[in-house]
Amino acid sequence: MAATHTLRDRVAASPLPRLEAHMLWQQVLGVPRSWLIAHDTDPLDPAHLAAYEALEARRAAGEPMAYILGRREFLGREFRVTPDVLIPRPETEQLVEAALEAVAGCAAPRVLDLGTGSGAVAVSVALARPDARVDATDVSPAALAIAAENARALGASLQFFHGNWYDSRLGSPQYDLIVSNPPYIHARDPHLGQGDLRFEPPTALTDGADGLSALRAIIDGAPRYLAPSGTVCVEHGWDQAGAVRRLLRRRGFADIASLRDLAGIERVTRGRLSF
Ligand SMILES: C[S@@+](CC[C@H](N)C(=O)[O-])C[C@H]1O[C@@H](n2cnc3c(N)ncnc32)[C@H](O)[C@@H]1O
Repeated sequence: MAATHTLRDRVAASPLPRLEAHMLWQQVLGVPRSWLIAHDTDPLDPAHLAAYEALEARRAAGEPMAYILGRREFLGREFRVTPDVLIPRPETEQLVEAALEAVAGCAAPRVLDLGTGSGAVAVSVALARPDARVDATDVSPAALAIAAENARALGASLQFFHGNWYDSRLGSPQYDLIVSNPPYIHARDPHLGQGDLRFEPPTALTDGADGLSALRAIIDGAPRYLAPSGTVCVEHGWDQAGAVRRLLRRRGFADIASLRDLAGIERVTRGRLSF
């Protein structure tokens, strides 16, 4: 790398897109982007340059920006993320919207989020419905620690439980809504070895099987934990909506519907308990 003396020179020499280079400089200097633009001919401090170059090398190696910055926005709020949790996706915002719609007419609903990760879904539901009792589970203690930190930082009131899907909820009150974005990628899907997915926890991405085993466990277990007329609402892969509807039908759910995202792909499916 040729010697550079100003922010402008260093951004121009970066292998990263200008926006990403700016985001990393903002992280190093703790300043807004407008400051960078106003000061782009200032001389660079060698310690700042070294700190920036360490982050730039991580990004150039493919590490997701969210892990480098330690945060990701979800439904307008900033969630802390580390490599212990899945980076919340924009498509999961639709899962939250569907979950909120399912309990719109229910006073003080009881909600269970299975596989909470960063807590993005559970915290968003708890903040949108302060009258709800929200419980969230995960098999990963490290993920639960991040979720609890996000709940505290964002002022959400909910409870976290450690365990395999419903295991920690035996004998718990019945829920009006069970919501989940489980690992649903097929174990042999080549995408697991590409892009951001290489850096995310494998247990957050894949069930290690056909991609449907976690969805199956959640749907099969749901009637035992749902109140009469309770709803289960799950996110799934772009090609799994038909299989998820079949699982719900087989388990006796009614009012089964899959919701399309902005690209017209069915990514969220729900069903209501009819017995
Ligand atoms: C796709 S991530 C979803 C994270 C978060 N809900 C979101 O939407 O961003 C799936 C989560 O399920 C958790 N998980 C995987 N297997 C589990 C199991 N058997 N029981 C409970 N949670 C599990 C993972 O640790 C991970 O946090």
